[in-house]
Amino acid sequence: MDRLTLRRPDDWHLHLRDGAMLNAVLPETARHFARALIMPNLVPPVVTAADAADYRDRILAAKPRGSRFQPLMTLYLTEDTDVRDLRAAAEIGLISAVKLYPAGATTNSASGVTDFSKVKRVLENMAQIGLPLCVHGEVTDPAVDIFDREAAFIETVLDPIRRDVPGLRVVMEHVTTSDAVDYVRGGGDDIVATITTHHLVINRNHILAGGIRPHYYCLPVAKRESHRRALVAAATSGDPSFFLGTDSAPHLDAAKLQPCGCAGCFTATNTLSVLAEVFEAEGALERLEAFTSLNGAAFYGIEANDERIVLVKGDPINVPPGILTDEGVVTVFDPGMPLHWHVEG
Ligand code: NCD
Ligand code: ZN
Repeated sequence: MDRLTLRRPDDWHLHLRDGAMLNAVLPETARHFARALIMPNLVPPVVTAADAADYRDRILAAKPRGSRFQPLMTLYLTEDTDVRDLRAAAEIGLISAVKLYPAGATTNSASGVTDFSKVKRVLENMAQIGLPLCVHGEVTDPAVDIFDREAAFIETVLDPIRRDVPGLRVVMEHVTTSDAVDYVRGGGDDIVATITTHHLVINRNHILAGGIRPHYYCLPVAKRESHRRALVAAATSGDPSFFLGTDSAPHLDAAKLQPCGCAGCFTATNTLSVLAEVFEAEGALERLEAFTSLNGAAFYGIEANDERIVLVKGDPINVPPGILTDEGVVTVFDPGMPLHWHVEG
């Protein structure tokens, strides 16, 4: 097979940032994706309906001319989130989900939740109206090893929340472990997971063996190979509980290449080429569309996109090593393998 037609994909976890960075990275996503769920971890975060409306307008203003890209907005859940404001934002279709960051779990998460009992009323309201909770699933206890933080989160935070708030629809985002895959598989209709592009390709050796590679450092951090294999199996299975959320997370090289560098891999530019390669290697190209274009829309209760894109296989493509912003370079994820597929047009 050397041509593959897909419904135009959606990205169910994307960081667009703001200002110069937004202008530089938005075209990379808008080129291939119809819609993306926009993460609210700006500084300061997107916490109110008014914040979300303003941010959406800045994104729409930064769209390349002629692009029909549609940002789907989220609110950043804090212990002070106002239920009425949130419900109103959901009712008018301004927001598609609410994002839970445990305080301190990742980039710009200082305003996140520490005491989960304080957000119970918000979560109950979300369950009532069917508004999904997108979860950064890592505990922040410094005593827990960083490679165990996702598995610990499931047991000590996520499962108790789901028992406490029946009917809450949860997206466990950017899953990195077989523990998370198993939990989602056995969890019924109210829990799904997104999987990133980079976690399907790298394991922790890629970050640490033979020299430290800051561009592969993201959160949750990549785990051992057996976990990566579990993610590939889940993504390529066609199971509707798993779909693409790239977590494409741009940082300037100046911020990544530091004694204490930022977490995040920037994959918007080459995600579809990388995914085609991964799915082809598994003999699962016919299930790529479910992962990129169908399963997520179905969970969020919206139509799959009408438009189609065509992936074409040929000689290895040249992906730019980085993209230029007005403030510096953002390095594009290097999958460490030739990419034979590109999006036509
Ligand atoms: C994200 C970012 O840079 O905003 N970083 C990352 O490593 N994934 C935050 C996040 O999604 O955890
Ligand atoms: Zn993210």
